[in-house]
Amino acid sequence: MNIVIVGCGYVGLVSGACLARLGHHALCIDLDRDRIEALKKGHCPIFEPGLTELIREGLQNGHLAFAHQMPALTSAVDLVLIAVGTPPAANGEDADLSGIFAVGREIAQKAVGKVLVVTKSTVPPGTGDALEDLIQRLRPDLAVAVASNPEFLREGSAIDDFLKPDRIVVGANEHCASLALRRLYHPLTEQGSPLVNTARTAAEIIKYAANAFLALKITFINEIADLCDATQVDVREVAQGIGHDRRIGPDFLRPGPGYGGSCFPKDTRALASTARKYGVALSLVEEAIASNERRKKAMGAKVASALGGDLRGRHIAVLGLSFKPDTSDTRDSPATALIASLLSQGALISACDPEARLEEPELTSAIEREKDPYQCAKNADCVVLATEWKSFLKLDFARLAAAMRTPLMVDLRNALDHAKLARCGFRTVGLGIPPHRPVTLRATTLRRPVAQVAFAPVSVLNGSKRQQLAQPQ
Ligand code: UDX
Repeated sequence: MNIVIVGCGYVGLVSGACLARLGHHALCIDLDRDRIEALKKGHCPIFEPGLTELIREGLQNGHLAFAHQMPALTSAVDLVLIAVGTPPAANGEDADLSGIFAVGREIAQKAVGKVLVVTKSTVPPGTGDALEDLIQRLRPDLAVAVASNPEFLREGSAIDDFLKPDRIVVGANEHCASLALRRLYHPLTEQGSPLVNTARTAAEIIKYAANAFLALKITFINEIADLCDATQVDVREVAQGIGHDRRIGPDFLRPGPGYGGSCFPKDTRALASTARKYGVALSLVEEAIASNERRKKAMGAKVASALGGDLRGRHIAVLGLSFKPDTSDTRDSPATALIASLLSQGALISACDPEARLEEPELTSAIEREKDPYQCAKNADCVVLATEWKSFLKLDFARLAAAMRTPLMVDLRNALDHAKLARCGFRTVGLGIPPHRPVTLRATTLRRPVAQVAFAPVSVLNGSKRQQLAQPQ
């Protein structure tokens, strides 16, 4: 099929490159001329594993092309896919849909006879209706159909998510639109990917509901991690114990410093705001948003408490700036919220990330950026693992400890082996996992092999507290 994709951001590029891989012809357009010129030469403007290779493959075999202007939308074009950004509006809550409607107006100018418009951007329920009305009003002569085909791409694994999706959602009110999208995804459905056919507005809600549900799940385990901290229980055991229940499932039960990124924070806010306009209270989503904000703030206090409370003049090395590994994206990253909090408490910050750059100039100028994690940790009072990049998990922790003034590791992702860290001289603090103290080899234990010493649990709930908790109230 011949597809025009509007928007060469994250979603547009991944969709274009993957649809080209599936054998379609995709023309990706963007107003940014520099971006288009770079893409024509095979230079990908965003960091996403595998994307550059896929773009180059498409350019070489002629299935993928780039242009900075929308062509005439003649009958040779099967569908126009909208993948422009829907960032938070000025009020910080609603989605800014100006990009979507601008594309709608351009489609109305360029369409010849009939056009199928497919929205991939995340939009509030009812946007498809408004877009169809707009195009039809501008061009009453045109046969226009607007469908919704939301994306569920995770940054860092977007190519796999596109080519091996858990499901494809097609929201179409017209049979012809639904048929066209079935044809588009035939290479995936014939390999077994389920396709869910819904009404247009249902598909729009599905996208928001999926993100909100995942955000709720993370918020839930984050709060359970706090309870585990208070009761000195290992939250990983709890997550395992509930995750085996197929009704709950094991994914998205990893506690962290709060969810971040370009989707969950923005989409949960937009969903709650949309629901309020309909007079519906999504109280769980509202509370997840508030809880996540509280959590991001609490992380600064957690680091302070690990360092005895007073951060003035203390050197803290932050490993990771992106909102999660394998992406350079720092939008709504818990790491940046943490750094802002630590700086406001008087700490000195050095930071290291394999790919991410900070967008906030005031943070950039206030911290030391280091390429090398060991250099970053040099003379530090504490290292905070804010993002679990693989390269950080494989560090030589004895070397890291030796570089620091006091080897303290605050692992905000529960991603490190704390017993191993203790053997390397670290005191460790995690999220809902028992703290470890450095393993000191006494004369008696020195005779034993190190491995036997190392795995002794360091922190256990003391008897009286356990009894107290077990008492009926
Ligand atoms: C998300 C959705 O997963 C994707 O389907 C949607 O289309 C876009 O938004 P993304 O934002 O790329 O994808 O990342 P995701 O892997 O979902 O993680 C989001 C945030 O939740 C990150 O900050 C991550 O660190 C955090 N997270 C995730 C946890 O804290 N714990 C978990 O168990 C999982």
